[in-house]
Amino acid sequence: MPLITKAVRGTRDVLPGESHEYQYVERVALETARNFGYREIRVPVFEHTELFERGVGGTTDVVQKEMYTFFDKGGRSVTLRPEGTAGAARACMEHGLLGDALPQKVCYAFNCYRYDKPQAGRYREYTTFGVECFGAAPPAADAEVIALAAEYFSALSLTDYRIELNSIGCPACRKVYLDALRDYFTRHTGELCGTCNERLEKNPMRILDCKSPVCAEIAAKSPIVTDYLCGDCKAHFEGVQALLRAMEIPCVLNPRVVRGLDYYTRTVFEFVSELPKLEGLALGGGGRYDGLIEELGGAHTPSLGFGLGIERILMHLRELEAPIPAPEPCAIYIANRGEQALTRAAQLANELRSEGLSAQMDITGRSLKAQMKYADKLGARFTLVLGEEELQTHCARLKDMVTGAEEPVTLDDFADRFGQIWFRLAEEEMLNAE
Ligand code: HAM
Repeated sequence: MPLITKAVRGTRDVLPGESHEYQYVERVALETARNFGYREIRVPVFEHTELFERGVGGTTDVVQKEMYTFFDKGGRSVTLRPEGTAGAARACMEHGLLGDALPQKVCYAFNCYRYDKPQAGRYREYTTFGVECFGAAPPAADAEVIALAAEYFSALSLTDYRIELNSIGCPACRKVYLDALRDYFTRHTGELCGTCNERLEKNPMRILDCKSPVCAEIAAKSPIVTDYLCGDCKAHFEGVQALLRAMEIPCVLNPRVVRGLDYYTRTVFEFVSELPKLEGLALGGGGRYDGLIEELGGAHTPSLGFGLGIERILMHLRELEAPIPAPEPCAIYIANRGEQALTRAAQLANELRSEGLSAQMDITGRSLKAQMKYADKLGARFTLVLGEEELQTHCARLKDMVTGAEEPVTLDDFADRFGQIWFRLAEEEMLNAE
């Protein structure tokens, strides 16, 4: 296939037959977040490269290997956002939202870009739904954020996943842990990959998320972070767990969850698929990042959040065969022949649309037979045929395409009358579904 009619590797088109699924999972996401007090934030697709270098961290895979970075025509280095947190934090700082009443809770559903190795569930352009809560330090905030994700999954009837929970401590206890990691990995320098050897001095924790099988095997036996937590971090982590237990949100403690981004402190978590075909796939993850706002030049603002992968959530829902509401069907298709009938069809279709109904009509001038074939393909529930005779008698036949039943209708108050038929039908179908 010629290059110009092929999407770039790692990107995918969301076609009309699929877009309602995205709309549904994003709508439920934003509605769930709203119930927890989050309001949507929209930030630019690209930011100054330095924001991600400073925010996400210079030794992470994301910054070292996966960013789409380029110079714009003004010579500035800009980067397509690889994730949502840094941009949301930058925007809240820039617009003074963190000096206001805290916590400041923002959420978003948008595309991100990572030059990742494309495979099932891993794209170079992906959609994330994220929430960020700025200015809340106690364990109640961590528990609430995790509860939000659990509530979202429940609203989608998304089952068969687990929440893996960990704490990676504060800078004080992390320092002791990093020394222990450095000691351990120094004994394996000959076996580690080149990138991990570089990470050894700067940030040995990043070796823990290296995708090389050799590094992963060595990392599997490394010291675990929870053995190094200070008293405050331990108490905080226990507080989070106690609240989650009280809310009956089951979590699995996994001291190997350290997350791949540098901004995290204390609580970290991942939502992992347990479906046989997707076992181990991260549907999302997040945690606390108490130092990020300061790192970006703001005041100390303990914060936290999570990001979910919308494509992965859809993969999981499809695999589960969870119910995804079908898009609104075309309620009525108005076939027409002749100029006057076309005008009348246009008037009727517009009246119906003003009533909030999905109405379509022939706009191609093709034969009535071809028009009916098209209506069938659209899945139009009703059809109405307008020709010379119908205009003269002000009467036409309304056909239910599912039952095949036909009834005569007058054209004069058709929009009103059809509205009643349609809403009665919708009510009956709702009752039947119950
Ligand atoms: P992350 O774990 O890097 O965290 O990404 C969050 C989720 O986005 C992943 O668990 C995965 O479901 C999805 N995802 C990431 N990369 C890809 C990809 N290449 N293709 C498809 N899906 C992908 C973050 O990005 C943090 N900003 C989350 C966060 C928000 N932490 C605190 N607040």
